[in-house]
Amino acid sequence: MKKSQDQKIQLLKEVTSELLFGLLDNPNESLILIDSNGIVRFLSSTNESFFQIKWEDAIGRHVTEINPDTELLETLKSGKAEIGRVMTMRGRDRIIARIPIFHEGEIIGAAGKVMFAHPEKIKELYNRIETLESNLDYYKKELYQSFGSRYSFDNIIGQSDAIQKAKAMALQAARTDSAVIISGESGTGKELFAHAIHQAGRRSDQNFIRVNSASIPGELIESELFGYEAGAFTGADKKGKPGKFELADKGTIFFDEIGDMPLGMQVKLLRILQEKEVERVGGRNPREIDFRFICASNRNVEKMISSGEFRLDLYYRINVMNIALPPLRSIKEDIPLFFNEFLTDLSCDLKKPVKPVAPDAMALLQHYAWPGNMRELRNIAERALIVSRGDLITLNDLPPVVRETAEAAYDCSQPLSMLKDIMAEAEKQAIAGALELTGNNRAAAAKMLGIHRTGLYQKMKKHGIV
Ligand SMILES: Nc1ncnc2c1ncn2[C@@H]1O[C@H](COP(=O)(O)OP(=O)(O)O)[C@@H](O)[C@H]1O
Ligand SMILES: [Mg+2]
Repeated sequence: MKKSQDQKIQLLKEVTSELLFGLLDNPNESLILIDSNGIVRFLSSTNESFFQIKWEDAIGRHVTEINPDTELLETLKSGKAEIGRVMTMRGRDRIIARIPIFHEGEIIGAAGKVMFAHPEKIKELYNRIETLESNLDYYKKELYQSFGSRYSFDNIIGQSDAIQKAKAMALQAARTDSAVIISGESGTGKELFAHAIHQAGRRSDQNFIRVNSASIPGELIESELFGYEAGAFTGADKKGKPGKFELADKGTIFFDEIGDMPLGMQVKLLRILQEKEVERVGGRNPREIDFRFICASNRNVEKMISSGEFRLDLYYRINVMNIALPPLRSIKEDIPLFFNEFLTDLSCDLKKPVKPVAPDAMALLQHYAWPGNMRELRNIAERALIVSRGDLITLNDLPPVVRETAEAAYDCSQPLSMLKDIMAEAEKQAIAGALELTGNNRAAAAKMLGIHRTGLYQKMKKHGIV
């Protein structure tokens, strides 16, 4: 037994020293080994040409005789390993490692090793990483554009009390993390306000995730909102998928048309709002999610509560701040401002010059009932820009639906004095608009409006424009 053991050790020693030599002297590495006195004990063959010395001449000499620039003696003193340092040796950059060697707590030597003889290879690697990083940046930005929010408070216009009040409340909401419900007819700017609240709050650099409660098919709602684990159901993605709540982590989740959410889903939403935890379909570990909740509805949720279509307990949760947006027909005084702003905005996209609006056309716009609110006004501004041929946007550039309803209303129910007021206001707006567009050049403004310069002066005086 003892004999075979000794034999084994002997064999192992022989094999090991060959293996060790092969390892230390391999052509891919340049190694120098010194003892605690700085005497060279090993020099790999690859180092011979570099230091221009045969290994048998090197061994036994002090390391400074072989390499005057050596810092291995520092390693003996400090006992600290240094990996990946750049060192210039004989005019060439090398990436090296200096490693102290310990035995029973004492430093018995140090090794110096060239890790990369060709740092340009590292540069190549570095360049590749840099390319990957810039690609990653690009995708992050893309993702941000589709998930981040696009509008801010600067995009919200309107001087009317109702809009100013809504804006002030939204600004206040942006400073908190409370749940917000935005109510208003379709096209009144609910989504715009939700974006602005996210954008002005502390979560602005995080995702803004929109969920349209009306458009997700019932059987997909859960997997869309909560995500699912791999193989959770037939047809599920192999890797699983995060849900909208997970995507909104640290950011904002915006539930549009919350009034269209089925009752069964309302219970689940309530639980998430209470627990701030989401469990993927087919998963076992709930994840904590930190999100801000904003929702919007164009339906009267209070009415839905009394008819049993909306849960009262959920309403309490989501109704911490309630912002009501006015329909456009209730803020007629803002219509010229909106219309001119939409024209200016769209003229860039459509590459069309901005034009002032003829007073009678503006009066008509202020008179129409706008069932589609700001969205409809914007569409009509776009249409007008496209079809308009002259220097002004005229009645003929407005669609029949606007002309007919408004004209009918004029004929039967509008007292003349009110019509005059509307016309006067529209004229004032048109003049102010033309002056602004021309940088207060009255001659140019008169030309734009198609009136004589003296006519313009008279009208400016009449309207108190200086
Ligand atoms: N106060 C406002 N200022 C500027 N643009 C507005 C305003 N309100 C609505 N809009 C514009 O009207 C359109 C419809 O708004 P949106 O937020 O989608 O309405 P909703 O979500 O209520 O249907 C968008 O183009 C939006 O930018
Ligand atoms: Mg909307």
